[in-house]
Amino acid sequence: MSSSISLCRLHMGGRSGLEKCFKKLNARIQRRLGTNVVAARREHLTKDVTLTEQRAEYRSFEAVQAERLEQAERSVLIGCPNNLNEKKVLAYLSRHGDINKCFFYENYGIYAVVEYADKGSIASLHEGTAIPSVDHESMVPFKSRLLSLRSLGPVEPPNSKAGLQFQPQTTIPVNLLVQKLSGEESIGQQITTLREAYQLTEENIRLRFLVCSLLKDIAAAYFPECTVRPFGSSVNGLGKLGCDLDMFLDLNVIGGRNMALPKAGFSLEYQMKQDNSERAVTQNILSVIGDCVNHFGAGCVGVMKILNARCPLIRFAHQPSDFQCDLTANNRVAMKCTELLYLYGELDQRVRSLAFAVRCWARVHGITSSIPGAWITNFSLTVMLLFFLQRRSTPIIPTLDDLRDVAGPTDRSVIEGNDCTFVSDFTKIRHQGNTETSEQLLYDFFEFYGTFAFDRMSINIRKGKEQNKPEGAPLHIQNPFEPSLNISKNVDVKQLGRFVTLCQESSWLLQQAENKAPQAAGGAAKATPWGLASLLLPSQEPKGIKGRKTRKREPASEGIKSLLESLKKTS
Ligand code: GTP
Ligand code: MG
Repeated sequence: MSSSISLCRLHMGGRSGLEKCFKKLNARIQRRLGTNVVAARREHLTKDVTLTEQRAEYRSFEAVQAERLEQAERSVLIGCPNNLNEKKVLAYLSRHGDINKCFFYENYGIYAVVEYADKGSIASLHEGTAIPSVDHESMVPFKSRLLSLRSLGPVEPPNSKAGLQFQPQTTIPVNLLVQKLSGEESIGQQITTLREAYQLTEENIRLRFLVCSLLKDIAAAYFPECTVRPFGSSVNGLGKLGCDLDMFLDLNVIGGRNMALPKAGFSLEYQMKQDNSERAVTQNILSVIGDCVNHFGAGCVGVMKILNARCPLIRFAHQPSDFQCDLTANNRVAMKCTELLYLYGELDQRVRSLAFAVRCWARVHGITSSIPGAWITNFSLTVMLLFFLQRRSTPIIPTLDDLRDVAGPTDRSVIEGNDCTFVSDFTKIRHQGNTETSEQLLYDFFEFYGTFAFDRMSINIRKGKEQNKPEGAPLHIQNPFEPSLNISKNVDVKQLGRFVTLCQESSWLLQQAENKAPQAAGGAAKATPWGLASLLLPSQEPKGIKGRKTRKREPASEGIKSLLESLKKTS
């Protein structure tokens, strides 16, 4: 009773007060119970506070995208000299207008992202920018917002460089992550720490939108009203620093479609070329834009046209940002998938935390890969996680049908005959009140998929129920918006088998005494990897890498056998 009163008081003192209170309460209960129950409870309370804050702050996916795209239009990317004097550079750039935000990062040199308060500043900046004087004739005079800052005259002392902060654009290596996680006091905390270490930063998201905006400038040479928007993990809330940049060239925003015509008199129409199919139009447009990116796009290298894929695309590397880019067109279903993942992530913070943990675990063990092949993709894996969260006895997230049922008239969306409608207003979704810890959920995820009837059943997040498999693919995950398609059609028996074995092994590992939280095991913070950290250790010593610490694991079936044996003995 007294504890809850002091909690209420501290609620008013804000989050830090709340945390202090929890530390005290934690210590008190731990003295009595000697378990990590409190760590789990703290995770809940923090979650409740965050949920309330989230509900108040929630903005739709569309609103966030529109704001970021507009912000990117007012921004420039500048390669800077090494002897950078931040104050002087900012003073120089401010001549063209007020600067809202500026940050620096390192990528084979120093770069600055500068966001002006007013778009007019970009025009002013362009007026004062020269075409390089060296090899004048061999330059393509395409003026973009990727610039170079030259330091003229005597070399400036980099007097403010010591204080210059570079924003990280990559994650820490897995071995450092394992070390970091091993110092945490609960698996729940490890899950949160992993997400915090891996997720995209505000600056990295800005850079992603800026690269889209730079691409839009190229496409706008032909289609002045087009937009290029990011989709996939860059914007669905599940992006890891270093993930690819999926872009969508949106020509549907071009005005003049469905225009109301006068009943009498005259009207004008554009004369336009027509092709055999929508797909052929998309391929032709991407082919031309691909050529422009290749020949005119400063910083864009290794341009490949992959036009015969199911979803035609242009792939290239954007060197100044170090992003691997995929540019698609006419890919509105993927945009809807992105919005759906964003919404589920906003609904409950356990969704994103678990998604980061599972995606990282899968990557470390080669369940997912950056190379196309028979591997499970991050997208499929995330849909599997969503399905699992829908299948809890008190579901953590609603089904897609539930989200469609509460949609408003403006949410209505039909793409190529498929109903892609679901609610965009977060506040219309009822919270179901599931209070399970992310630690418990992680363990149950592995158990769920370690024993799932993949041979007979299909995963369906629209209904939130497994259904009979309609075809012979080893893994069947129904595309949420195109029910006749299987998003994991590429996965073969071997890869599915590896996934199932690893799930069994991981659920077994999490049950081992040495993998329990330090308090539960009766000690202080552990130096050796435990909990989630132990799941991120490689299973086998990779050939040719000497001196790397690895753990020898029993195969899953052996592990489960010995676990059953020990249970028998105890009972
Ligand atoms: P990363 O592995 O971090 O790049 O994750 P990602 O979510 O960005 O995945 P990926 O780059 O493979 O795909 C980008 C987006 O395209 C996904 O987030 C989905 O929205 C969509 N997508 C991917 N695969 C499929 C699929 O098989 N069907 C449909 N409809 N959409 C897909
Ligand atoms: Mg991607």
